[in-house]
Amino acid sequence: MAPAADTAALRDSCGRTATYLRLSVTDRCDLRCQYCLPARPNFLPKDEILSLEEMLFIAEEFVKLGIRKIRVTGGEPLVCRNVSWLLERLAALDGLRELVLTTNGTRLAGQAEQLRKMGVKRVNISLDTLRPARFAELTRNGDLAKVLAGIDAACTAGFDAVRLNAVLMAGFNHDEILDLIDFACARGADIAFIEEMPMGDIGRRKDKDALTADGVLAAAAERYELQPSAHATGGPARYYELAGQKSRLGVIAPYTRNFCADCNRLRLTCTGDLHPCLGHMGKVALAGAARERDAAKLAALAAVALAAKPEGHEFASAPEARVMRYMATTGG
Ligand code: 5AD
Ligand code: SF4
Repeated sequence: MAPAADTAALRDSCGRTATYLRLSVTDRCDLRCQYCLPARPNFLPKDEILSLEEMLFIAEEFVKLGIRKIRVTGGEPLVCRNVSWLLERLAALDGLRELVLTTNGTRLAGQAEQLRKMGVKRVNISLDTLRPARFAELTRNGDLAKVLAGIDAACTAGFDAVRLNAVLMAGFNHDEILDLIDFACARGADIAFIEEMPMGDIGRRKDKDALTADGVLAAAAERYELQPSAHATGGPARYYELAGQKSRLGVIAPYTRNFCADCNRLRLTCTGDLHPCLGHMGKVALAGAARERDAAKLAALAAVALAAKPEGHEFASAPEARVMRYMATTGG
């Protein structure tokens, strides 16, 4: 029996309750996606990164406070040494309903099966383009073939769901929306398109012609019959059924369909900083309490973070990045 959760513990001042923890286990990545990292990132010194035991302790305590879903992310979580040690233990946490993973897919071909057996229920895999040269340009030299092999392995490994994530970039992958949907449908995977958010000092700004969720739906409607779906995974994606397909189409639209009003998320970086909002710089350091294995202190710090959770992000009113933190730090 799962212990009764004190769900009120993670309620914020706007009446929202956090039930979903995104856990970035490393800031390192084997790719350098232009919207996520600079060409030569300064990765964090190893001694600033929590041990896997400390991450597990925090996760365990947060599940006691009411977290029901954990997404392990990065950087790229599968470049983190011994991440399977952590995943296995997270999957077994009493009271956790779902352990899910976000990955860039480069190392998934050899690991998908094992991840599923460990208890990872669903995986999200980034796929912004199907063209090898574009992929190499976007990721500053990544090999698309490895990712495609990873996606195929995930689609046959028996996860509850596999979702492909495509960041919308006007003038870059605008012409691939239908191809990406077709690709997902051929594999029975879901696909979500994400409006690009201005993060970090990487010289990308939101332009007024940016691709939005409506552009995705218009493109999809050229080939598929769309029906709004009640499907929900407790995240920000809103889904549509595609007639005759197992695959669903999702849109994550921070600009055009603001989802902050029912945000249930908290983000923990690999250094132990708890961010109540992706769109703000506010954070609460949990590293000390984790190192001391001080559960009461952790709970008190969690309450501080929840009390400081802003009503929403301000991406739409600020075209230049105001959040000087790379996506690889907070894991999206
Ligand atoms: N805007 C939108 N999505 C982003 N991601 C990374 N950086 C950005 C950004 N600036 C996506 C990744 C991945 C997910 C975790 O976040 O592509 O799918
Ligand atoms: Fe790596 Fe993901 Fe950032 Fe790309 S978006 S550089 S794959 S962490």
